[in-house]
Amino acid sequence: MFTIGILASGKGSNLKTIIDKIKEGYFSSVKISMVLSDNHNSGALKIAQKEGIKNIYIPPGKYRTFLQPDKEKEYVKILKENKVDLVCLAGFMRIIKQPFFKEFNDRIINIHPSLLPAFPGLEAWKQAFDYGVKFTGCTVHFVRQWPIDSGPIILQSVVPVLSDDTCETLYQRIQEKEHIIFPLAIKLISENKIFISNNKVIIK
Ligand code: GRF
Repeated sequence: MFTIGILASGKGSNLKTIIDKIKEGYFSSVKISMVLSDNHNSGALKIAQKEGIKNIYIPPGKYRTFLQPDKEKEYVKILKENKVDLVCLAGFMRIIKQPFFKEFNDRIINIHPSLLPAFPGLEAWKQAFDYGVKFTGCTVHFVRQWPIDSGPIILQSVVPVLSDDTCETLYQRIQEKEHIIFPLAIKLISENKIFISNNKVIIK
């Protein structure tokens, strides 16, 4: 069994999609070991609870954008203890640091709502909309420590910006694509079809 740990801070639609795909039999052997969150009110924790998946709120500590070092160690410890093969950041709103990379090198992936390397950072769909691009989308990538939202790109999906789009309608269509490429990336990794060479992803 390929075991994933999901870190999420928000509403949890990507988590929900992965749960649904597991139920549908989309993956050959993927199991969600646990959902961890820095936000005790997150939809993600509620979804996990409802689905009977281990869910833990670990307070982030005193910083706004990253985890307090002792808290970060707690996240890593519990993922390690539960023998997680892949850490999936599904809307986790904290920058992760060395303890994660030391333990899970090349085993952390993130879903980001733009075509990276364009528009890293917060509210990427809004950044793209405000810039006036004609196409944007989403990216699944392995996570590198620096800069933010960098790392070998696994999959991307393109979303056109329509003339009558608002920020909200655009983001809604981006999320529909996230719900396709994030599970697909997990599936490919779990089936050993993803390799990193020269900091680029090769899909076999
Ligand atoms: C997604 O848009 C993802 O790209 C970003 O955070 C959001 C999480 O959405 N990193 P949800 O909580 O899975 O609905």
